[in-house]
Amino acid sequence: MPHFFLRYSFCSPRWFLRAFATQRPWQAIGQVVLLGMLIGLASCGPSAKTEDKTAATTAAKLAATTSTAKKPDWWKETIVYQLYPRSFQDSNGDGVGDLKGITSRLDYLQRLGVGTVWLNPIYASPNDDNGYDISDYRQIMPEFGTIADFDALLAGMHQRGLKLVMDLVVNHSSDEHAWFKAARSSRTSPYRDYYYWWPAEKGTPPARYSTFDVKKNAWQYDSLTKSYYLHYFSKKQPDLNWNNPKLRQEVYRIMRFWADKGIDGFRMDAFQFVAKDPSFPPMAGLNEQNFANAYNHGPHLHDYLKELNREVLSKYNLMTVAEGAGRNPQEAMLFVDPARKELDMTYHFEGVGVGSGADTYKLNDLKQVFTKWDRAFAQKGWQAIDLGNHDQPRMVSKFGDDRPAFRAASAKLLNTFLLTMRGTPYCYNGDELGMTNSKFAGIADYRDVAARNGYALVQQQGGDIPAFMHGLARFGRDNSRTPFQWNGTANAGFTTGTPWLSVNPNYVAINEAAQAKDSSSVLNHFRRATALRQQRNVLVYGQYTLLDAANPHIWAYTRTLGGERVLVVLNFSSEPRRWVVPAELKPTGEPWLNNYPTLAPGPALALQPWQAVVLLLQ
Ligand code: GLC
Ligand code: CA
Repeated sequence: MPHFFLRYSFCSPRWFLRAFATQRPWQAIGQVVLLGMLIGLASCGPSAKTEDKTAATTAAKLAATTSTAKKPDWWKETIVYQLYPRSFQDSNGDGVGDLKGITSRLDYLQRLGVGTVWLNPIYASPNDDNGYDISDYRQIMPEFGTIADFDALLAGMHQRGLKLVMDLVVNHSSDEHAWFKAARSSRTSPYRDYYYWWPAEKGTPPARYSTFDVKKNAWQYDSLTKSYYLHYFSKKQPDLNWNNPKLRQEVYRIMRFWADKGIDGFRMDAFQFVAKDPSFPPMAGLNEQNFANAYNHGPHLHDYLKELNREVLSKYNLMTVAEGAGRNPQEAMLFVDPARKELDMTYHFEGVGVGSGADTYKLNDLKQVFTKWDRAFAQKGWQAIDLGNHDQPRMVSKFGDDRPAFRAASAKLLNTFLLTMRGTPYCYNGDELGMTNSKFAGIADYRDVAARNGYALVQQQGGDIPAFMHGLARFGRDNSRTPFQWNGTANAGFTTGTPWLSVNPNYVAINEAAQAKDSSSVLNHFRRATALRQQRNVLVYGQYTLLDAANPHIWAYTRTLGGERVLVVLNFSSEPRRWVVPAELKPTGEPWLNNYPTLAPGPALALQPWQAVVLLLQ
């Protein structure tokens, strides 16, 4: 099986690698924002009527409340929008998205009804791994703009009530970072111990696996000092040595630099890997399948997190989310148990990992994973909810049905899911339009280091290139990184130049301008869903109960908070399906949300393909 080209994933073994009141008074601050949303909703057409009414009532209540109510954790109630800067909006025709481009689209972001934007890395970088190889943590990548552009972007976001979360990539730096240049220059450099070295006179270092390396070898020989350095990712991403307190202080200073600028949080990249035993004891059976498992949770990881919290996080109102932290819910809890004073939330790979080894996936696997993780965090701790990101295929192509007849309905269903689960939803840019996987003619069209180096390896080994290319087409990371589809003009309105990665040819049909005008579009459904979640705490905090667990086509669950109870029914199939509402559950009124114009009444719901409904229960 050709799994080499894809990134690690610990559960996709084959191809891939409150009891608070119903309303939220403190959001009175965001009243202006809410009113903006209401104006937006007014254009959503007939099916938005129910939401219109709900929103209007909420606005009236907000106006009547005082501002003295205790403010709970804002990051639990926010909706995160993950924005891939390289592909969002180019402002100067060089084919690369940039900060000025994002600033020009802030009104769009505000109208989405999301609360927080997570930006993939925008720091100075030679771009071996699209910014995940940082050469200066205090500078902006010149292609993206300047610090002044950043300040303008942050101010523009805050003016609109949007928060900004930055990616913090500190498991490794770039090999072009000044620290690494100094470290590699001599064995006695004061920066030597910022990285891991294995002197050649000790022989070949104990095997370590690298997910992006052409040879899959995490040790790169450096002739200058006759030593090997460690890199879990590409050889241009040397791992930073967290055993060194000086390095840790450098990281805290970087975090303070951005926190002092007023940012609102950090997404901690690959943080589960930072802790390493510097004696490098032998590790057996390292490969793509267990890459994340093997390296997760090394010694002192939680000591580092407690220190980081003490030194930085405790001094600011920042949200933190760690990528892939914890090999299971129990381990993940160690990061986010409030009593431990470490981080706020983690996101696991198990959900996105479902079906990563096959052409199809089983709904019950997906249900089982999300239900298990929800249960583990029911009493304390908090989680991120996601179905896609810049490392994954497009969610509609993987978990929905991206054929023209079903694409819109299934994209709406998946967005309904993300926005009605407990946990903070992470919505990846373009998914609000139902953007799909792209079509790449050949390996030359791919840009991702994982794809290119994986291909080189299969070629060297005389492996099965067509099978590799098939896997890449389904799961390659470039699928979700194609330029944002703004309109039907050349290059989807992303750039006037040549895009760094080709635009998905379906932009002519799938684009923001067309969807903005259509009340039944994926985009307007997304806006209705975000507005609903922003107004209804039952959707944020309510207890999740899975119904009809064994049903292979329907994912049905209730959310309960105090006296309020909501039923969510999702037909995960391209066929009409009937689903009998359990006798004790009595839907009342019009659906809160429905991705079809109608819902046939009666005790058995006659669901259309990929129909998704949210119903208030008596
Ligand atoms: C994380 C990022 C991924 C990157 C890797 C190395 O997994 O999400 O894009 O390649 O870390 O930094
Ligand atoms: Ca540009």
